[in-house]
Amino acid sequence: MDQVTIFEMSPRDGLQNEARFVPTAQKIALVNALSDLGFAKIETASFVSPKWVPQMADGAEVLAGITRRDGTAYTALTPNLRGLENAIAAGVDEVAIFASASESFSQKNINCSIAESFDRFAPLMARAAEAGLPVRGYVSCVTDCPYEGEIAPQPVAQVAARLAQMGCYEISLGDTIGQGQPERVDAMLHAVLERMPPAQLAGHFHDTAGRALANVAVCLDHGLRVFDSALGGLGGCPYAPGAKGNVATEDLAAMLAAKGYATGLDPTALAQAASFARALRQDEKAT
Ligand code: HMG
Ligand code: MG
Repeated sequence: MDQVTIFEMSPRDGLQNEARFVPTAQKIALVNALSDLGFAKIETASFVSPKWVPQMADGAEVLAGITRRDGTAYTALTPNLRGLENAIAAGVDEVAIFASASESFSQKNINCSIAESFDRFAPLMARAAEAGLPVRGYVSCVTDCPYEGEIAPQPVAQVAARLAQMGCYEISLGDTIGQGQPERVDAMLHAVLERMPPAQLAGHFHDTAGRALANVAVCLDHGLRVFDSALGGLGGCPYAPGAKGNVATEDLAAMLAAKGYATGLDPTALAQAASFARALRQDEKAT
């Protein structure tokens, strides 16, 4: 059976956009619940500026408080060398850098141009290599930008190729605002796949327009076997106004099972845990 890896995003992409600060104990409870579900990868924290994203200010405490499961990699976003040093001190297993195919989004999200972002990433990559940490790379706005509208495939392919050349082991292609149509995702993938194999790519679809699963299906047809999702469909990006959460993990896992792919996850347990995750968003009591 063909294997697909689900990279669970809810503690990071899910909670970074919440209006309220989700208490550290609840974040830890979420990560522990995800570990129990058996995810191989959990994006657990962000080591970004707390002035920019206050919801993620407690990353070190979250990593210190979780119960680690063998076989799960606990990962974090690191925008610069400072973030990487903090992530290393917190004991992450893997980090991710994040670039954009849109100049405007790069400026709004990380306060620099696309070219400047690569200058920032270079020392980070060197330090991560020294520390033996795998680095994943994100490309945001792979079909649409909240500020510029449609993004052409070629800039996406160029940014993805640059991240790969810098040493990212995998490039996650982000439909940041969840507006991509399957035809445009297909065109984007054609361009990217001229530069790297499908085994080096992941799909990261927000579900604003309800097309995330259709876009995952396009990626599957192109040979991609890693997808990012968030339990309960939590999330959004603080610098992508109106963007909804990642595709819901429970929906993604169900679709993959129906198509005959193995994820190693239990659909019933996922559905139960999804209501716990959604309770965090709704500001309800979650223990
Ligand atoms: P900046 O203001 O240009 O940088 O921010 P700076 O170096 O001038 O620093 C400004 C302040 O932040 C300083 O503090 C620094 O010390 C501090 P001050 O002197 O004013 O007191 N600082 C930090 N503090 C903690 N950790 C750090 C750090 N770096 C600087 N690592 C920066 C540049 C990149 C830091 C900022 O713009 C930032 O943090 N941006 C992050 C935005 C973010 O997290 N966005 C959401 C994640 S991306 C996403 O969701 C998309 C994705 O899901 C894929 C998709 O869907 O497309 C991945
Ligand atoms: Mg995202």
